[in-house]
Amino acid sequence: MKESHIQKFNTVYQSSGCYYGQELRPEFTAHFGNQDIQGLQALDLGCGEGRYALYLARKGCEVTAIDRTPAGIQKLRALAQNHYLHVIASVVDIADFIFPENRFDIIVAATVLDHLGEDLRRRTIAGMRSALKPGGILYVNVFTVDDPGYLLKQTAAGENPLPGADSDVSDTAFCMEYYFTPNELRSCFNGYTLLYYYEGVEPDLSHGRPHHHGWACLLAQKP
Ligand SMILES: C[S@@+](CC[C@H](N)C(=O)[O-])C[C@H]1O[C@@H](n2cnc3c(N)ncnc32)[C@H](O)[C@@H]1O
Repeated sequence: MKESHIQKFNTVYQSSGCYYGQELRPEFTAHFGNQDIQGLQALDLGCGEGRYALYLARKGCEVTAIDRTPAGIQKLRALAQNHYLHVIASVVDIADFIFPENRFDIIVAATVLDHLGEDLRRRTIAGMRSALKPGGILYVNVFTVDDPGYLLKQTAAGENPLPGADSDVSDTAFCMEYYFTPNELRSCFNGYTLLYYYEGVEPDLSHGRPHHHGWACLLAQKP
């Protein structure tokens, strides 16, 4: 992860409250809301301030959460401690994380695979596939080429110039390494049972000025 990206996330995570809010994607809560997941082992990759990790811990999971940004991990540890929740949160770059085989019942990667360069992204997807237990549940979301940040990136690269392309873009868009193409996220987990898949563009009012995101969101079960 680039130093400038760590600094950006460190700054936003130092603000009071939670930068991306506490709200989770609706498909995530719809799936796990009514399930008994007490005692299951969960992994949250690129957890930030830990909104997904904390939700799973509140439901009784034993959560391992990693992120490269110290301020996010500090906030997550404090929140977990205050509420007596079982979260092991560590400052670790995903590039250095050793994925243990068949260890986790649930793996979450919320808006993080798109922050990884190509090699690391491929290794991480392979690591997630290996670390999930048979029957385990995977939840991943990423931003897609429909995201206004992708248009801005093309404009910056001198391709497809669009006047005013930056007006609808998240303030952390410069940290993005990659935007997924249509159905690409789904194809990364070929062979899994698809429980939910969605691609679409939505407004985001949770941080900074109002903007939009192109989302791909996947819930899938390892056979
Ligand atoms: C958009 S935020 C999402 C945070 C969290 N998953 C959520 O949904 O609230 C992306 C997070 O990925 C983390 N990240 C990006 N690249 C990483 C890497 N190589 N290793 C660990 N964390 C990384 C950033 O520090 C940041 O906290």
